[in-house]
Amino acid sequence: MNLNDLNLLLNNLTVEEKIGQLIQLTGDFFDQEDEIIETGPMTKLGLDDNKYDVKNTGSVLNVVNGKDILNIQKNYLEQSKHKIPLLFMADIIYGYKTILPIPLAQTCSWNFNLVKDGASMMAKECFEAGIHVTFSPMVDIVRDPRWGRVLESPGEDTLLSKMYSKYMVEGIQGQDCNDEIGNNKIAACVKHFAAYGAPRAGLEYAEVELSQSTLWNDYFPGYKEAVDSGVKFVMTSFNLLNGIPCTGNIWLNKDILRGKFGFNGVLISDYAAIEELTKHGFTKDAFDSASIAFESTVDIDMKTSVYANNLLDVVKIDNKKLDLLNTAVLRILRVKNELGLFENPYRGVENEDRVTSILSSEHLDLSKNMAEESVVMLKNSRNILPLKKDLDVALIGPYIKEKATLGFWAITGENKDTITLEEGVKNLSDSMNWRVSYALGCPMVCESEIKNYGKYAEKIERVSVPEDKLREEAIEISSKSDVIILAVGESTYQSGEAGSRSNPCIPDHQIKLIKKLKKIGKPIVLIVYAGRPLIMSDIIDDVDAILYAWYPGTMGGQALANLISGNVNPSGKLSMTFPRNVGQIPIYYNTYKTGRPIDYENYNHRFYSKYLDEKVTPLFSFGYGLSYSNFIYKNFKVDNKSLKQEEKLKVSITIENRSEYIGKEIVQLYIDDMYSTIVRPRKELKAFKKVLLKPFEEVEVSFSITEEMLSFYDNEGELHFELGEFKIFVGSSSEDEMNQCIISID
Ligand code: BGC
Repeated sequence: MNLNDLNLLLNNLTVEEKIGQLIQLTGDFFDQEDEIIETGPMTKLGLDDNKYDVKNTGSVLNVVNGKDILNIQKNYLEQSKHKIPLLFMADIIYGYKTILPIPLAQTCSWNFNLVKDGASMMAKECFEAGIHVTFSPMVDIVRDPRWGRVLESPGEDTLLSKMYSKYMVEGIQGQDCNDEIGNNKIAACVKHFAAYGAPRAGLEYAEVELSQSTLWNDYFPGYKEAVDSGVKFVMTSFNLLNGIPCTGNIWLNKDILRGKFGFNGVLISDYAAIEELTKHGFTKDAFDSASIAFESTVDIDMKTSVYANNLLDVVKIDNKKLDLLNTAVLRILRVKNELGLFENPYRGVENEDRVTSILSSEHLDLSKNMAEESVVMLKNSRNILPLKKDLDVALIGPYIKEKATLGFWAITGENKDTITLEEGVKNLSDSMNWRVSYALGCPMVCESEIKNYGKYAEKIERVSVPEDKLREEAIEISSKSDVIILAVGESTYQSGEAGSRSNPCIPDHQIKLIKKLKKIGKPIVLIVYAGRPLIMSDIIDDVDAILYAWYPGTMGGQALANLISGNVNPSGKLSMTFPRNVGQIPIYYNTYKTGRPIDYENYNHRFYSKYLDEKVTPLFSFGYGLSYSNFIYKNFKVDNKSLKQEEKLKVSITIENRSEYIGKEIVQLYIDDMYSTIVRPRKELKAFKKVLLKPFEEVEVSFSITEEMLSFYDNEGELHFELGEFKIFVGSSSEDEMNQCIISID
């Protein structure tokens, strides 16, 4: 259809039918064969059938099965007057059936072409299942590992968040997607606008308080990047932002998102967020909530009765709102048209006998490659890794045979498809001549904690053997081996949405196991599965090597085995800082300078910015990660240290791989704007390159310093470049200060 046709269609709709396009309900509202409506869910949601007719509904939430989508759509269209197809939207965050590592892990690869390939694969599987829109990417910056949703996020850094945003949108929707979303592609929805990742004390759904400078410079750019990349949907956020809930925030949604960023697509509320405006203490009642959310340009109400029961009255009272309604409906019709739904409402699922690419070997390979690049090696004493051939290997711990390694938001993934760590290792046992034995060692979650898991408690496997016995068995098996591979971590249900933890550490009963095994004196390779950086200070000295696996997805077990054996060289680096203890949180690399920076030479002097009982440095810093290669940084060069504004600047460095392992190194460039009218952080990542080096090879890596890298936003959201002095660092992590220089621009 062209725009004229869409306008004609819009003009033919009654106000009630228009409002229907703004309502999103779950699949249980729709019958697949007879009458469209299921009345049970209506009552539960409080939908008033005098005011709202479910037959007018515009979109469906989280129906993810091709057959259901086909049947609901067919039945709906047969009975619908205007034949406007339903839009099927779902949370496919990092994979439909072939599950990739969690987003926080993916950004540890710093390989955004791979991120894009992963997003493309995910979109293809979604297309083949009939899904039209995914609620991804989530680009909320995170600085607090207590928050459970850090697993869905790109981490703490703005550049990584921007890149993740752009490459995800391009992978999901197709590059340069302006009007049409073609076959194998679907629409993306960036979320959660805005700043959802900074709730007070990491507590889910709590308020966010951020300065304008931090919002503009750190938190907004990820969302803006998605808009610049042509994202079709934006989702609001649950939280208050500086006192006003995002879902009814006229400044945020209308002035900034629509006005300043120029977003012209569909703005959808997060789940029930319009209704929650009253609970926040922002609106008097549902009418008030409908009115202000609508005014702030929220187009779709996800899963509440607020718009359905109230928008008609809102529009009646204020006729000018009819224009707003028309604009909102047109935005929704436009995206349905861009997906080609008017021509083919069954896109992707029209042919029931189709062959799909779901879980194809190509997709599984991609998932494995991503896992291999996103695991981070945090420790490797005496080069214990990679493991040699011809060894007796003890596999110990609750994650050795665990299939639930997909992470909390893989709602369509199936654990049965996972390659476990045990399977991965056994697949290599012949070629490596490893003789493998196994003991559980301890349960995933100790019995006394299971009650905290609410409705997920029943999903946690109970172990009837007493913990002492399990440990004894593990000790016995480990004593007879040359090396212990010990796989521990938090359970899937301990992270994700509403998975906040006040003390995100390795569970005590697992620490006990580690300490006991340490006493045997055999080398321990620790594999940690988690949805967040866990605090590991208690055990860091008890183990010889650490591979941080995150939730590595369907092929995680194979990827880890490949890394352990040296078939693949670790190349991931952290996208989020690891604290030493809870008291350091929030801890992240790009903090501000203080007037009293810590003075290590006079550490015992009191009046410095430090803790009396802990170091100020993290356990592992942003950008850190080890390799089997030994990378040497040398010949740091800056072609001009004193330049005029219009002059170009290039910095370069040589990286040498002084080892016999082929490997990839992530070379990072940070900038410190040394003085400015609004103070900038002590350093900010501005560029990086991931380079592949053969054994003993050297390469020169160079970066052009652009004006944009030296600019910052003021409190009104205007970008400024100020002349002055800048420190440039090039290194292997955010803490690497070996290669630095000061340039001045006048
Ligand atoms: C989450 C969103 C998600 C939505 C729909 C909410 O609880 O915050 O990220 O997209 O549910 O399932």
